[in-house]
Amino acid sequence: MNVLILGANGFMGNALSEKILATTDWHVYGMDLSTNKIQGLLPNARFHFVEGDISIHREWVEYHVKKCDVILPLVAIATPASYVRDPLGVFELDFEENLRVIRLCQRYKKRLLFPSTSEVYGMCRDAEFSEETSNFVYGPIHKSRWIYACSKQLLDRVIAAMGQTQGLRFTCFRPFNWIGPKLDDIYAPKEGSSRVVTQFIVSLLDGEPIRVVDGGHQRRCYTWIEDGIDGLMRIIRGDDEACNGEIFNLGNPDNECSVRELADKLAQLYAKSYRHLPGYREPRIEEVSATEFYGKGYEDIMTRTPSIAKARTALGWNPRVSLDEALARTLDHFVRERQEIEGATTGSSPSNDTLRKVSSAH
Ligand code: UGA
Repeated sequence: MNVLILGANGFMGNALSEKILATTDWHVYGMDLSTNKIQGLLPNARFHFVEGDISIHREWVEYHVKKCDVILPLVAIATPASYVRDPLGVFELDFEENLRVIRLCQRYKKRLLFPSTSEVYGMCRDAEFSEETSNFVYGPIHKSRWIYACSKQLLDRVIAAMGQTQGLRFTCFRPFNWIGPKLDDIYAPKEGSSRVVTQFIVSLLDGEPIRVVDGGHQRRCYTWIEDGIDGLMRIIRGDDEACNGEIFNLGNPDNECSVRELADKLAQLYAKSYRHLPGYREPRIEEVSATEFYGKGYEDIMTRTPSIAKARTALGWNPRVSLDEALARTLDHFVRERQEIEGATTGSSPSNDTLRKVSSAH
């Protein structure tokens, strides 16, 4: 089987490529702007990667949609700060460029696996969000945070309509706060420009205070990346009856936690396991208002818990990794990455053994 992954160097794209290459005989065709997360995959003969921009290299994209069996357009801006600062950029990339790929899937009769998002539910008040019954609730236009959710939900509707009226074969999946290694780039996070777990970890590593927005009462369900990828693999392998025309929430409802609790957990883990690393500083947590942190166009979701009954039944999927384990593994990865980068610049990286001893203390 040939799988096309647009955004192969992204958080999901690199983890999915790695999984496919390690556990199947399939070929992966990938495009992305850069290669920092997929260095280890590049030598693999079944990984056919081209550095490029889907909005520019349209012929390459069209040729590979035609060539491949399953298409995953994973290119998107997915950081809330960008929804507020650059709403049109979010619309152009997340909506317009992806619509182009969706239309190609329709034209060439290819199976589409589309990343919807937990954000489509917006400020829905249901205790658990259901793919079949929950309403989508967004704020007024000046709250530009919702442009991402609107873009994604309209694409969900376009895809479903193409399935209904034109026979497009598709499955949409809705990740709920997947976390893990390579979530965002360790040196990229300017304040507010990466997702919360990366932001907090980078603050810890930099010796800066963790900044909790609006008291940190907001709750999310954090899902270990490999559990999410397991769900995706089940969809790719899944038959038409279970998957075609369906939408699946992929999240871990057992890992629900407030942002404040998340900050406490990461601070404690860091203090317990890494205090003897050079440059260690005692974790600090401070509060900041949403307007100060994100700007006026921001509005938040207070609780976001998936119902995963559908994925459990249709795919036999069960997320397994607990929040504590997922945070420990993610923190460990970022500490290692930071050590490697610093070692490369100073020539004095601690040995892997030292780091392994540190990380096994979790
Ligand atoms: C995310 C992003 O929109 C997408 O990556 C994605 O589609 C979706 O949710 C998902 O992963 O399911 P959100 O959960 O709000 O949205 O994004 P985060 O940046 O991870 O923020 C989570 C919470 O932490 C928010 O309440 C935010 O205000 C808070 N936060 C974030 C802080 O308190 N401090 C920070 O430094 C960063």
